[in-house]
Amino acid sequence: MLKRKIKWSLLFQDKQELDNLFQLKECVVHKSFVGEFLLVKQGEDYYAFKNKCPHQNKPLEGSRVEGEHLICPWHQYHFSLEDGRGHGLYVEKYPLKFEDEGIYIGQEKWSLF
Ligand code: FES
Repeated sequence: MLKRKIKWSLLFQDKQELDNLFQLKECVVHKSFVGEFLLVKQGEDYYAFKNKCPHQNKPLEGSRVEGEHLICPWHQYHFSLEDGRGHGLYVEKYPLKFEDEGIYIGQEKWSLF
C-alpha cells in the first residue's frame, strides 16, 4: 500500500549560509538538486514554498511579505505564510528542519514502504 512520507534533503550547511542568501531581501529563490524554492525570512522565522504561483503558474520570484501574507508579484494575490492558502488556491509549502548538521527541506513523496 502506498504511503505518503516526508523526504528530508539537506539545503544548507548552517544558518549563516541560509542568512547570506537574504542580504536585505525577505524573499529569495533558491535552486538546488531537489527543486526550486521561494525562501522567505520574516524576523527569525523561515518559510519555504514551491517557486510557482497557483494562479497562473508564474514564478514567485519578486514576491513580498506583508504581515502574515506572501504577495505574488504578478497579480498581487495574497497567500498565508502559515499554510500557503489564499484566494481559494494553495501555494505548495515545505517544512524546514534546523539540525546541528544543517538545514533540511521536507518534500512529501509516495512510498511503498
Ligand atoms: S500569477 Fe500569482 S497572482 Fe497571478
